Amino acid sequence: MSSSQVIIALTKGRILDEVLPLFEQTDIIPLEDIKNSRKLIFDTNRDNIQLMVMRGSDVPTYVEFGSADMGVVGKDLLMEYGSEEFYEPLDLKLARCRLMTAEPTNPGPIQGRPKVATKFVNIAKKYFAEQGKQIELIKLNGALELAPAMGLADSIVDIVDTGNTLKANGLEPKELIAQISSRVIVNKASMKIKNTAIREILGKLREAVANNQ
Ligand code: PRP
Repeated sequence: MSSSQVIIALTKGRILDEVLPLFEQTDIIPLEDIKNSRKLIFDTNRDNIQLMVMRGSDVPTYVEFGSADMGVVGKDLLMEYGSEEFYEPLDLKLARCRLMTAEPTNPGPIQGRPKVATKFVNIAKKYFAEQGKQIELIKLNGALELAPAMGLADSIVDIVDTGNTLKANGLEPKELIAQISSRVIVNKASMKIKNTAIREILGKLREAVANNQ
């Protein structure tokens, strides 16, 4: 592979909807309709840039191991992944939301250690340890809001945007753990080997972010 070929791993879903227009502003435009294609890797109008689309939780892995040079991923998944093995040079300030604890609006009595359901087990473990709170973590992969209603957990740690999902399930937000937004990450070796190309992309993205504020 050429020393200027840059592969960027993008998070599919809501982040992609917001990131593609930003990339377009920086003149990185996929040659196909990414959102309506079953393909996972795409050429762009720029000969030396390709885009990949995947689950957010896999973006840090691709970038850490250098299969992607750069990635766009939510801060929540970066915190959960917890690696120092890549750079995080830019906050795109997109897909903003909050990582919070949430509890039933009318909580019942708690027996023993409070049970907390989350897919962010590493973040939750660290957060409650810092708070000096003894809890029991229950790992789930989605639909966390069901857990308190079904008696599986006393509270949850989850992403809150409008708060509608919590409300619709009889929950309310409690403690703020972190403000979340989409970040650009860069593989450390790629940053050295492909420095000119990556710096150019970062510079244009930084400019576009500033223009959008
Ligand atoms: C997130 C989160 C909540 C919801 C919160 O899920 O897990 O369920 O959004 O948004 P709200 O506060 O605006 O209601 P998402 O739709 O990203 O899917 P996920 O379950 O795959 O995380």
